[in-house]
Amino acid sequence: EVELSLRPAYLNQYIGQHKAKENLEIFIKAAKMRNEPLDHVLLYGPPGLGKTTLAGIIANEMGVQFRSTSGPAIERAGDLAAILSSLEVGDVLFIDEIHRIPRSVEEILYPAMEDFFLDIVVGSGPSARSVRIDLPPFTLVGATTRAGLLSAPLRDRFGVLSRLEFYDANDLCEITERTAKIFETTITAQAAEEIACRSRGTPRIANRLLRRIRDISQVKGENEISLQTTKDALEMLQVDRAGLDNTDHKLLLGIIEGFKGGPVGLDTIAASIGEESQTIEEVYEPFLLQIGYIQRTPRGRVATAKAYHHFGLEKKGD
Ligand code: ADE
Repeated sequence: EVELSLRPAYLNQYIGQHKAKENLEIFIKAAKMRNEPLDHVLLYGPPGLGKTTLAGIIANEMGVQFRSTSGPAIERAGDLAAILSSLEVGDVLFIDEIHRIPRSVEEILYPAMEDFFLDIVVGSGPSARSVRIDLPPFTLVGATTRAGLLSAPLRDRFGVLSRLEFYDANDLCEITERTAKIFETTITAQAAEEIACRSRGTPRIANRLLRRIRDISQVKGENEISLQTTKDALEMLQVDRAGLDNTDHKLLLGIIEGFKGGPVGLDTIAASIGEESQTIEEVYEPFLLQIGYIQRTPRGRVATAKAYHHFGLEKKGD
């Protein structure tokens, strides 16, 4: 399965995220020297930056099994107990969207993380009793878009907190070229750079664009993906020169045209363009903040002069 093999399996194949990689490398090495499981790791940051990939790499580097679930999939204490009690010594348990675990279930995670046991109530009413189940030492790797979404007691139980950042164009270019190689496709350096500059700092987007551009290039009968085809394809895919898509445009123009550039509250702008507040906050806004098109103020979101400029507009008063 190509999709899976796109993910690097070891740290030395993982491009970018130098800080996170450097730290993890040391903590993994130390844990292995002591023959102990790695401390619990919380990975946070915008979607598509490689949290799941890193979790898999941690398991591979530690030489243990990788088990994976997600916050929304864990509805009851029993769901989590079933997974935890099937772990083997040292295993990595990856919980994606860990902030979405119900609070009642979260509480059984605390002793599991801290002292490797489960305290579960069996039965109900007068016959209810608490049973203690010992667990093998394991490593929990949690992923979330923002560390602040986690409750403080859960966040405090992670020994390693690692924030993933948007990738720079050089790293994205390298990732695009690596993916092209896996696809057994040739791409010119300029075409790879173009994709890198228009992928919102996000490998998942670069890889998705590369797939579509490869389709178009192939249908055109090219023997390598050219810059011109890449530009044409990106226009067709409605990705603008800064990598912004339709939703980014709706959001920015919504603030500029509908609210005189802001400040406007998140829920107000979300309702006015028909998007979920949470999607805007977790998927769209982080990149627009990063490139300085949006600012967050106590009174709401503001479109900057840079955002106006992107649309050939002038921000009054700037
Ligand atoms: N594919 C997606 N993300 C990657 C990364 N950070 N390094 C290498 N290949 C990738």
